[in-house]
Amino acid sequence: MSKSIKKIAVFTSGGDAPGMNAAIRSVVRTCAYHNIQVIGVYRGYEGMIEGEFVDMNARSVKDIINKGGTILKSARSDRFRTPEGRKQAYEQLKKAGVDAMVAIGGDGTFTGAMIFSSEFDMPVMGIPGTIDNDIYGTSHTLGYDTALNTGVEAIDKIRDTASSHNRLFFIEVMGRDVGHIALNVGVGAGAEEILIPEEDLGLDRLLESLRRSKRSGKTSSIVIVAEGDKIGKNVFELRDYVEDNLGEYEVRVSVLGHMQRGGAPSCFDRVLASRMGVKAVESLMEGKTNFMVGLLDDKMALTPLDQAIKGQSKINLELLRVSDIMTT
Ligand code: F6P
Repeated sequence: MSKSIKKIAVFTSGGDAPGMNAAIRSVVRTCAYHNIQVIGVYRGYEGMIEGEFVDMNARSVKDIINKGGTILKSARSDRFRTPEGRKQAYEQLKKAGVDAMVAIGGDGTFTGAMIFSSEFDMPVMGIPGTIDNDIYGTSHTLGYDTALNTGVEAIDKIRDTASSHNRLFFIEVMGRDVGHIALNVGVGAGAEEILIPEEDLGLDRLLESLRRSKRSGKTSSIVIVAEGDKIGKNVFELRDYVEDNLGEYEVRVSVLGHMQRGGAPSCFDRVLASRMGVKAVESLMEGKTNFMVGLLDDKMALTPLDQAIKGQSKINLELLRVSDIMTT
């Protein structure tokens, strides 16, 4: 155990994700349990620069385990990218007596935390919070499971209208650089095809697959498209392309968008957040710094922040095959 930690700052940064509040609650309550003071930083790095802090205790996080979004708010900060901005943030933290911090967010959040802790004497632990699940060192990021359930529920509803009208739907789901959401939601909702950034299905194969499903007697179809899909066409362009080349289809488009980021966290995300918060605080107490807390083989594990950022979170290729078989 290195120098004892007396006061921790916790904040959320980047895109919000369900489970962030449950993680804040866990960090605050773990601090209370170990008699460590804790402050919340509003609006991520931007609020850190401005000194927007709030004292927190076990009671200030009541009734938030079930809430989506983040009570500490979130922001993307250009100023924190500059040395001057980071110096100002450090001075604010020192003035408040903070001697360690827990950063809840995605790779942008961790990059900021890593640079900050290399410049200043400030131990840091990361908790991965993003619906995209695009962080190396954890099988699940906070919010991912909830987003999958939200996606499947929405697609189930769209299926009702697709099947009533014999339509083909292109449904866009989030996931900027990775296809985790598209792939899992696609299999879970029984989609005809799944277009993801990792695989180039190709337009010809897509048409062939849609023709095949028509021939096999299917009257409606759902194609899930990840935002960053490799075919390079957005859902509206895909609709136009298919309408031009497969006249027999009546095509509609639905972009699920930010609804996937909201809502009450699933039980899985609440439990994960609770475990991660405990692990983050207790790791700081053990003198560890510059790690991200993750879930690996159902155990809490620490991954160095630089690896978490640079490493690639791989999609499960087996799911692609499962999806192919399921669309027979
Ligand atoms: O990283 C999470 C995410 O929701 C992505 O899936 C999406 O591309 C992006 O954030 C949207 O960001 P914003 O809310 O800034 O539009």
